[in-house]
Amino acid sequence: MKVSVMATPLNILPGALDGAAAIVIDALRMTSVAATALSNGCAGVLACAEVDSARQAASETGALLGGERNAVLIPGFDFSNSPLEYTAEKVAGRNLVMSTSNGTKAIAAASGAKRVLLAAFVNAKAAAEAVRGEEKTVIICAGTLGAFTLEDALAAGAIIERLQKLGASPVLDDMAIAARMLYEAARGDFMAALAATKHFNRLRSLGLEDDLRYCLTEDTLGSVPEKQADGWFR
Ligand code: MLT
Repeated sequence: MKVSVMATPLNILPGALDGAAAIVIDALRMTSVAATALSNGCAGVLACAEVDSARQAASETGALLGGERNAVLIPGFDFSNSPLEYTAEKVAGRNLVMSTSNGTKAIAAASGAKRVLLAAFVNAKAAAEAVRGEEKTVIICAGTLGAFTLEDALAAGAIIERLQKLGASPVLDDMAIAARMLYEAARGDFMAALAATKHFNRLRSLGLEDDLRYCLTEDTLGSVPEKQADGWFR
């Protein structure tokens, strides 16, 4: 299996997604949220790049609305982008439409892939298992506003480590090698590794330490949201 890592969606070269399983990572926090919601019984998640299209999709389908701009709740939305809000009591049996600053845009950028899956630290092992039979896997790090973010690269490294453990013998491109090395250097204390990074500190300044701890804990969830023919992740 060939595994490549895109440092940001802007790094996706023409043809890179042809025939590929794409794994989109926005570890802090959108893809952690989607995996959490589905694990807690949410019926489906639709990712909308823009707030207006999210509002429209939710009003047409009766879905709940979740997401953020500048990491805080969007007026009129049911949930912010905190995974801890998406409890079974609130999401079980309900559809959820999300719009976030970077995660849902990265998902849109992955639309040319054969499969699109969502992953983070919380479901790294499950994500590796979901793609282990693929010939070509492209891991797309969402980053922040077009810039590289370390947390997404570390989560990419975690998935690659799981693929290696599964015996999938992935052939890595240079960014995948770098992500794997970064993960090895940071594992055991992601809070420390990310202490000086931008988005981590933005979330910390908002008092979201519990979100950070939750999102940076590995393999707590077994579900991997995957885009279905109707465009919803289940
Ligand atoms: C995003 O999609 O940009 C992030 O999930 C932002 C956040 O952590 O709220």
